[in-house]
Order: sequence, then C-alpha cells, then structure tokens
Amino acid sequence: MNDHRLYEQDAPTGFGPITIRHMVLEDIEEVARLERRSNALPWSLNAYATEIGNTVAHYLIARDRDGTLVGYGGMWIVMDEAHFTNIAVDPSARRRKIGERLLLSLLQYGVEHGTLRATLEVRERNKVAHNLYLKHGFEDVSVRKNYYSDNQENAVIMWLENMASPEYCEHMRRGMEIADAWDAANTP
Ligand SMILES: CC(C)(COP(=O)(O)OP(=O)(O)OC[C@H]1O[C@@H](n2cnc3c(N)ncnc32)[C@H](O)[C@@H]1OP(=O)(O)O)[C@@H](O)C(=O)NCCC(=O)NCCS
Repeated sequence: MNDHRLYEQDAPTGFGPITIRHMVLEDIEEVARLERRSNALPWSLNAYATEIGNTVAHYLIARDRDGTLVGYGGMWIVMDEAHFTNIAVDPSARRRKIGERLLLSLLQYGVEHGTLRATLEVRERNKVAHNLYLKHGFEDVSVRKNYYSDNQENAVIMWLENMASPEYCEHMRRGMEIADAWDAANTP
C-alpha cells in the first residue's frame, strides 16, 4: 500500500503521476496564476507570500508528471479546527481526482496535527465544489447572505465533524486508494 502522508516537503507521493507537496515561496507565482483562472475573486501574490510565513497556514500544491502545477489548497489550523481558505484545480486538469487528493491530504495533515473538525465556505451555486465537500462528509450548517463581493452570492458554511475518528480515517484511506486505482487505470 502507498504511504498516503502526501505532504512531506521533499517526498514525492506514490500516486502515479501526481505529486503533492507543501507550497513554498518559489511556487506562489504559479499558484497565483492558477488562482486567476479558477477564482472570481483571486488572491494577490502578496497574500500568498504572507501565507507562506503564517504559522497557522498550511498549503499543498499538486504537480503533474511534467512538473506543471495543476492544483493547490490550503487551510488554517486554529486550535482543533481546520479552516479551509481555498482549493482549486487547473481547468485543464479537472475531474482527475486531484481536488479530492488535495482535500483528503489536507484533512489528513490536520488529523495528524490534532484537528478534530473542519469548516469552509462555498458559493451557493458552486455545485461542483459542494459535491466534492459532501462526498467527503462536510455538511451544510448555515448560509451567509450576500457574502461574495463580486456578485453578492450567498456562502454556504459547511462543517466536517469527527474527522479524527477511526471511521473517518478509514474513509480518507479508502478515498486515496480509489484515487490511486483511478490513476493506474487512466494514466498511459
Ligand atoms: C472544485 C474543484 C477543486 C474540484 O477539483 P477536481 O480535481 O476537478 O475534482 P475531482 O476530480 O477530485 O472530483 C471529486 C468530486 O468532486 C465532485 N465533482 C468534481 N467535478 C464535478 C462536476 N463537474 N460535476 C459534479 N460534481 C463534480 C464529485 O463529487 C467528484 O467525485 P466523483 O469523481 O466520484 O464524481 C475544481 O472544480 C475547481 O478548481 N473549481 C474552481 C475553484 C473552486 O470552485 N474551488 C472551490 C472553492 S470553495
């Protein structure tokens, strides 16, 4: 079985063509470029530079076999809670379970650092991301009206409880295994 602790700085994963690592300063220009292709309200380069120095922030990037940056995601760990800040996959690399790998890798990192629950907000009309979070146990808890400044869209606030439970750890392990199998079946 592969070691699914995907976030070690210098450790490529056993995940077929995708490697997942911690984001470092050298990555942020590419991350900001990808962000502009994926987010209507993209963060600035400076915002990412600040996050690199933020001790509660944890960011992962995903690179394809040829080294192209194909995704990133991040969260803040505050006490025993993980607060997701963003997650995105390049439009050209979607539906390859990269978003799922990033989400599960961040959650696993959180569990290994004492996190018991996780939260995020998602645009009400972003059914793709909402599906991803529902698939991995997040539940709708509340709505923040007119939250997004570009179009006044509502934000759905989601929470994942009990993420350190044996059942959820097994869910993460199984999710990674399925992503492995998907890669093996779909990578030439
Ligand atoms: C949301 C996002 C990160 C998903 O990344 P991805 O790598 O394409 O997604 P995955 O291949 O890992 O899919 C995982 C799950 O997400 C959901 N999903 C992904 N694409 C979907 C689609 N087009 N339609 C419906 N559900 C979808 C499904 O539940 C899927 O599980 P499945 O493969 O068993 O059906 C990506 O679409 C993205 O970057 N969107 C723009 C940025 C964004 O909205 N970020 C979230 C901010 S809250």
